[in-house]
Amino acid sequence: MISIFGTDFNLHICNQAMFSNRVTQLFNIDYPIIQAGMIWASGWKLASAVSNAGGLGLIGAGSMYPEVLREHIQKCKAATAKPFGVNFPLLYPDIDKHIQIAIDEGVKIVFTSAGNPKTWTQLFKRNGITVVHVVSSSKFALKAQDAGCDAIVAEGFEAGGHNGREETTTMVLIPAVVNAVSIPVIAAGGIATGRQVLAAMVMGAEGVQMGSRFVASEEASSHINFKQAVINAAEGETLLSLKKLTPVRLMKNKFFQQIQEAEARGADEAELKELLGRARAKKGMFEGNLDEGELEIGQVSALLDGILPAGKIVENVWKEFMEGLNHPLKNTTFIE
Ligand SMILES: Cc1cc2nc3c(=O)[nH]c(=O)nc-3n(C[C@H](O)[C@H](O)[C@H](O)COP(=O)(O)O)c2cc1C
Repeated sequence: MISIFGTDFNLHICNQAMFSNRVTQLFNIDYPIIQAGMIWASGWKLASAVSNAGGLGLIGAGSMYPEVLREHIQKCKAATAKPFGVNFPLLYPDIDKHIQIAIDEGVKIVFTSAGNPKTWTQLFKRNGITVVHVVSSSKFALKAQDAGCDAIVAEGFEAGGHNGREETTTMVLIPAVVNAVSIPVIAAGGIATGRQVLAAMVMGAEGVQMGSRFVASEEASSHINFKQAVINAAEGETLLSLKKLTPVRLMKNKFFQQIQEAEARGADEAELKELLGRARAKKGMFEGNLDEGELEIGQVSALLDGILPAGKIVENVWKEFMEGLNHPLKNTTFIE
């Protein structure tokens, strides 16, 4: 147990290798840094690189056909002996096939999102799988806890990708969810640096899930055009869009402007769906069409300035976290 300014933290630090809290214990990892499951970005290469670096890598199943998912799981098993997991957006049409593949392939950790945690959690648990559900409010956090989840990702409004309708920011969401549930809380949304990890943990989170930071990694399967756009993005260049369908934080490109115009003149759901069409996300993030594609990314893209190896990202974040722990306040002295 360490204490900073009178606050006890549920972690033990002697050196970097000996960090331990409920999140590192749950997944058997060195650092409480989780690389988010992300469509068109997080395949086996990224997941295994993060796991090999001591974090937890997740394969994003949401953009994969079932047999493609099987291949990614098998390649990930071959590329790392460390724990890794799979993210399942539960609204995926082939979700039952996906889940069976994960069970058959011996996946041990699953992060579920975008759906009711009650539907699948007990099946996972019966198969010895650790289950974490992603939520955007305390109400949903309690539901996930009641469904038997082992931990929760609380994802704030800053986050890239699909977002909660209530628009609660990470800064408010984390303390609220930590107060509401007893299982470990993993903070997500707007986190890319070690000091941000520290801030989330001071608020009671026991780990972080980072998405946008890992989009701009060498191992991410996202297109290089998208990665470049992400690291070039400035503050204010993402906004929540498609609120009438499923709210999603997007980079402001030509496609985004078309959606904005349609929404401003009161386009209904059907028109928005038509405009969205098929495979927009693939076109933007995987094929690199920066005008016509859907570019999901978080506000924190404004802080990113390089495409790095995923292992280096984990290392840098952890180094800055440890430095922050030793000197939490900048430009401050205490006067007797
Ligand atoms: C390109 C992209 C794709 C994403 N796809 C998914 C997904 O398939 N499933 C999911 O649960 N969350 C998805 N997310 C959200 C992330 O899992 C994560 O919670 C979020 O990125 C955290 O916020 P940050 O981007 O500020 O780090 C995606 C995010 C991005 C940026």
